Amino acid sequence: MKILVTGGAGFIGSHLVRQLMELGHEVVVLDNLSTGAREHLPAGGFTFWQMDDREAAAREKIAAGHFDAIVHLAGQTMVDASIRDPHFDAAENVMGTVNVLEAARESGVSRVIFASTAAAYGDVTEDLLPLREELRLAPLSFYGLTKVTVEHYLDLYHELYGLDYVVLRFANVYGERQGDKGEGGVISIFAKRVARGEGLTIFGDGGQTRDFIYAGDIARGICRALVTEKVNTAYNLSTQTETSLKELVEIFGQVEGRALVPAYKEAREGDIYRSMLANEKAKTGLGWEPEVSLTEGLRRTVAYFRSAEA
Ligand SMILES: NC(=O)c1ccc[n+]([C@@H]2O[C@H](COP(=O)([O-])OP(=O)(O)OC[C@H]3O[C@@H](n4cnc5c(N)ncnc54)[C@H](O)[C@@H]3O)[C@@H](O)[C@H]2O)c1
Repeated sequence: MKILVTGGAGFIGSHLVRQLMELGHEVVVLDNLSTGAREHLPAGGFTFWQMDDREAAAREKIAAGHFDAIVHLAGQTMVDASIRDPHFDAAENVMGTVNVLEAARESGVSRVIFASTAAAYGDVTEDLLPLREELRLAPLSFYGLTKVTVEHYLDLYHELYGLDYVVLRFANVYGERQGDKGEGGVISIFAKRVARGEGLTIFGDGGQTRDFIYAGDIARGICRALVTEKVNTAYNLSTQTETSLKELVEIFGQVEGRALVPAYKEAREGDIYRSMLANEKAKTGLGWEPEVSLTEGLRRTVAYFRSAEA
C-alpha cells in the first residue's frame, strides 16, 4: 500500500514508519518538525515532506499523492497547552485534520486511521474501569475535546462521502524517542532521570494508576487497523492493566538492578487518579494484543535515553 503518515517524525510515528517499511509499504511522511525530528527516522527508504498539515499546499500535495491510506498522527499533544491556548489547539488538531480529510476525500483515499486518546473519556467513575469504547465521551480538556470532535468529523465524512476510518484511542504510550511534554510523559521523564542517575519525584501518594503501553505495540495496532475489515468504529489500544506510580518506580528499580526511593510532593490539580482502558474490542476487531511487557519496554526506554545522552 502507499501510505501517508502525518506526524511521522514524532515519537509514535517513528515506531510506525519503521514497521510499515518492514511490512513492505511505500511510506510518505508529512511533518512540520514542530515537536518531531528528522533524526527520529531512518536515513532513507521513505519520502519525507516537511510541511504543515494546515497549509493549502499540503492539501494539494496529499491529494496529488493518491494514497491508499492515511495515518493521521500530526497534531499538538499537550493537555496544558490546550487549556492555555484553545485557539492553537483547535487550529492544530481540528483545522489541520479537516485539511487532511478534504485531501483524502478529493483523492479517493480508501481509509484514514486517526490517533485519538484516553483523554476523550474524561474523569469516569472508578466502577466503570476498564473504560470501554461505547462509554459517553466527556473530555475535561480542549485537547480531549478536539480529539472527540475529529471522531465526529470522521463519522460524518463516512456518512457523506463513504470515506472509511478507524479511530484508535491510545492509553499512555511510552518508549524510545518520546518527548517529555506531551501525553503520558511520566515514563520519559523518569527514564531520562534514571539514565542520568537522578532521583525521581512522585506528585501525590503514588497510588494513582495509568495504563502504560509500549509505542511499538501501538504501531502494530495501527498496522492491523490498516487491514481490518471492521472499520468505521473506535478501538482502544491499551494493555488493560493498571500500574501505580509507586509500582512504576519499583519496575524501574528492577530494570536498573538497584532500589529507587522516590521523593513525594503534593498532588497536581486536575490529574485523574486511576486510568485503564478495555482492550477486548481491539483483540477481536483488529486481531491485536500488546506484546511488550512494562519491564521490557522500560528497559528499552532507559537504554535509549542513556545512549541518546552519551
Ligand atoms: N503519546 C501518547 O501517549 C498519546 C496518547 C494518545 C494519543 N496520542 C496521539 O498520537 C499522536 C502522535 O503523538 P506523539 O506522542 O507521537 O506526539 P509527537 O509530538 O511526538 O508527534 C506529533 C508529530 O506531529 C508533528 N506535527 C505537529 N503539528 C503538525 C502540523 N500542524 N503539521 C504537520 N506536522 C505536525 C510534530 O512535529 C510531531 O512530529 C498525536 O495525535 C497524539 O495526540 C498520543
